[in-house]
Amino acid sequence: MAVKQKTMIKNILFLLMLFTLLSGCSSQTNTTESKIIDKMISDNSVKVRKYIKKDAVIAHRGTMYWAPEETEPAFRWARNMGADYFEFDLQLTKDSILVAIHDNILSRTSDVKEVYPDISKPRVKDFTLKELRNLDFGSWFNEMYPERAKEKFAGQPILTLKDIIMIAEGNRLLRINGEPAKEVIDNNWTGNYLYEKDLQDNKNRPGIYIETKKNHLEKLLQEELKNAGWLITDHPKRIKTYKGKLAVGNSKGRVVLQSFHKKSIEQFNIYLPGIPKCLLINSIEALGVPKAFYPKTIDFCIKNNVEILGPDISNKEDKDGLTAPWMVELIHNSGMIVHPYTFNNTAEFEKFGSLVDGVFTNRADLALLYYKRLQSNISEKVLAGLGY
Ligand code: G3P
Ligand code: CA
Repeated sequence: MAVKQKTMIKNILFLLMLFTLLSGCSSQTNTTESKIIDKMISDNSVKVRKYIKKDAVIAHRGTMYWAPEETEPAFRWARNMGADYFEFDLQLTKDSILVAIHDNILSRTSDVKEVYPDISKPRVKDFTLKELRNLDFGSWFNEMYPERAKEKFAGQPILTLKDIIMIAEGNRLLRINGEPAKEVIDNNWTGNYLYEKDLQDNKNRPGIYIETKKNHLEKLLQEELKNAGWLITDHPKRIKTYKGKLAVGNSKGRVVLQSFHKKSIEQFNIYLPGIPKCLLINSIEALGVPKAFYPKTIDFCIKNNVEILGPDISNKEDKDGLTAPWMVELIHNSGMIVHPYTFNNTAEFEKFGSLVDGVFTNRADLALLYYKRLQSNISEKVLAGLGY
């Protein structure tokens, strides 16, 4: 009996040792990186991800190349060229209106220094919409790029979220003697403009790809998208589409949300669930530590129902920026897709285009040629056809 007991104890000890040894081995090989490869976005995020078409052409600020960024000419051009999305950056005015402008400060892209010379640091958030509408957001482009200047770029106004949605739906600002017509209520201008059907609209219906900063506007954005009929989770309106033309604007992927700021992504998750989301990442965050950075970032995305990563393609330190093949593979393994920024030339499309699922680009023309959706570059013709 005593011998039997001893053998049993020996066997148990042996099994315990074996178990400890095996668990030790597995924890050594199961690094954070290999764990994350096994983690997937949820089934619901997979469903939402599928709202977004493959090889999406995302017209960065409309275009920064052919027209002044985030103005009516930039977005009308992007729509008629056939870009899938208008990309723009939202900021809040002093009177809580959502306007499209990249910089917090107005100086680079407007004549604010001439119109309001006493304000040393003219921030968007310190001006009302009416005050901002006094500014010219086009002439700086004509001065900086004389080879692409157009007379009608001068005097272009800042656009609201509503203005951009109207352009995506095939409208333009109503103009009287070249000036935008004002919406007047009780003898007062509301700050809004009136619209008319765009006679040069070629029936493409793009979506919108909206970037937020640290400006806490997610709840307001939800309300405005709902009012415009563009909130696909809450009785979206049907936007008429045309055979052979772009129809993203009437799809469930009509709105995509993006931000560099994790706080904003968390707010999207609260106020705008079920809408595709993109976390933008820049090379500085990952400098020197991309192997540790990526698993952590993907983990955040999985937890916050983010379906897209928007990595940088440029980085002085690293020729692939944050879009090296191993990085794209890691992202794809998690079930997410990749929309890097910002493509400016053919070499970049050749280098990264086949790896990724869509591109933020100032050259929607080059992207459409790369994807063989255009036969020749009709950019100048499209601008002229739009009256610029
Ligand atoms: O939104 C993608 C890209 O626009 C991020 O960079 O600085 O141009 O907004 P930025
Ligand atoms: Ca942006």
